[in-house]
Amino acid sequence: MALVTFSNPDYKDKTVYAVAGSHTETLLKIAKENKIPVQFDCQDGECGHCLVRVTSVDDKDRMGYFLTDKEQTVLKELGKLTQEQIDQLHVDDMPSEWRLACQMIVRDEDVLVEY
Ligand code: FES
Repeated sequence: MALVTFSNPDYKDKTVYAVAGSHTETLLKIAKENKIPVQFDCQDGECGHCLVRVTSVDDKDRMGYFLTDKEQTVLKELGKLTQEQIDQLHVDDMPSEWRLACQMIVRDEDVLVEY
């Protein structure tokens, strides 16, 4: 189980339990199930509307996360990551703080999601 806290200045923070490890359990799906108004459009990693900032908030070691080509392309287009930063994240085996909610699979870690 992971605790996912959604935070937005216009809404009350909401923390939900997520079953980690399911390949279909994207952050966007969890948000929709819990009526959290994360924006979205394509739901396929192409439009960038579901951009969120994700911070790990538990004591575990951070785990690297491989961004798909689609997600890398959109995050670069949005000016959130450069190719150098993406390369460095791979070298350091660290996750990107910027993610697309429709592409991010929730793992067994507690996270703060700013949307
Ligand atoms: Fe379009 Fe996530 S909804 S990239």
